Amino acid sequence: MTRTDHRGMCVNGASGPAVDEFERALSLLLCGRGDPAAACAAALADSPDFAMAHALAAYLQLCGSEGAGAGRAAAILPALRRTARSARERLHAAAVAAYAAGDFEGAAERLDDILIEHPRDLLALHQGHLLDFYRGDARNLRDRVARVRHAWSPSLAGYHGVLAMHAFGLEECGDYAQAEESGREALAIEPADGWAHHAVAHVMEMQGRRQEGIAWMLERERHWAPDSALAVHNWWHLALFRLDSEQPAEVLALYDARIAGPGAAALDLVDAAALLWRLHLRGVDVGPRWTRLAEQWTPFACDGWYAFNDAHAMMAFVGAGRWDRADLLIATMRRRAERGGSNQAMTREVGLPLAHALQAFGRRDFGGAITLLRRVRPVAARFGGSHAQRDLIDLTLLEAARRDGQPSLLRALAHERLSARPETPLARRYLEAAAGQRGAA
Ligand SMILES: [Fe+2]
Repeated sequence: MTRTDHRGMCVNGASGPAVDEFERALSLLLCGRGDPAAACAAALADSPDFAMAHALAAYLQLCGSEGAGAGRAAAILPALRRTARSARERLHAAAVAAYAAGDFEGAAERLDDILIEHPRDLLALHQGHLLDFYRGDARNLRDRVARVRHAWSPSLAGYHGVLAMHAFGLEECGDYAQAEESGREALAIEPADGWAHHAVAHVMEMQGRRQEGIAWMLERERHWAPDSALAVHNWWHLALFRLDSEQPAEVLALYDARIAGPGAAALDLVDAAALLWRLHLRGVDVGPRWTRLAEQWTPFACDGWYAFNDAHAMMAFVGAGRWDRADLLIATMRRRAERGGSNQAMTREVGLPLAHALQAFGRRDFGGAITLLRRVRPVAARFGGSHAQRDLIDLTLLEAARRDGQPSLLRALAHERLSARPETPLARRYLEAAAGQRGAA
């Protein structure tokens, strides 16, 4: 029979209790809390023909940005197709099919098709938002949400999640004041919304509000840290604030206690690699941490699902001096750059040149790294991630310029950074280094 979810969307094949479990799963997913997969499984155990629960189960496999997850989502597709009866449910099946086949653009478009007709489809909005993030589509991070907000009001279940997504999209488009307002509004409704907390942290990161950022993370830790899939990434943001505050010992302690873990999820390994690389750029000895991280990345050396992950795997292999695995990863990426799908262009245009640049940096060919990094950074958004994550490319270029003894380039890059973040001590240090190199020349 046809029922409605908590926002009035018709759903097929669900009992009342199954709809409640589906809503619980969606709520957990929005906040990044608990185990949405278990709640989704409970919905399907009760109502095996619940099409939207099959869709949610598939998206939960896909949103980890791993090839293995795409395979598991593809295995769910027959059940989703069999149970999808409405045009909306069939569009979800089409979106999942495209996503699992590596056609990220096609999936993002089908989700937009759904939202144009059904602006309260919270699952379509959330998955479209994540796809916009994975594709570095800043405009749609903001505007996909802007297109649906007319249909939302504070009384609707999940409204805080809409505000949180809008906050992050606004931040990625540089509208920091509106982003912070939207994020804080979301948190006033749902303090445990980890994505809203994260969006405000991004605003503070981009504006160089280091001390405020540390306080923001620590004062609200009880809301965003426990039982959260976003916790590692939010700890990473705290580590960035501490690193920018020249506190490397605290950063290493955070890495050991909160960021390095036994898990093997690519999303967490990305944060671990990015943090160790930033420490590496600053000349901090990270000891055996690279070796362990390279082991954790090794299963992904042949994955080739997402160039953004591959670049972070390369950092770990270079950091650990595992040139054999670095070469294996390059071979995987080259094969990927020849195949179809969205990741083909991501790999060819950004992933491979960046991976080569990281290798060059690791082999102390700083001139070679500079050439590649200067070429890749204007188009780097194409392989996804946030401004804060892709900042690592700029940081690597700055350090390569310093190590290669190119004071004019270093001065130019330091001024570029200072214009965006006038308070940053790092840019001042690079400016002094450039002056020192020029004086010595
Ligand atoms: Fe972030």
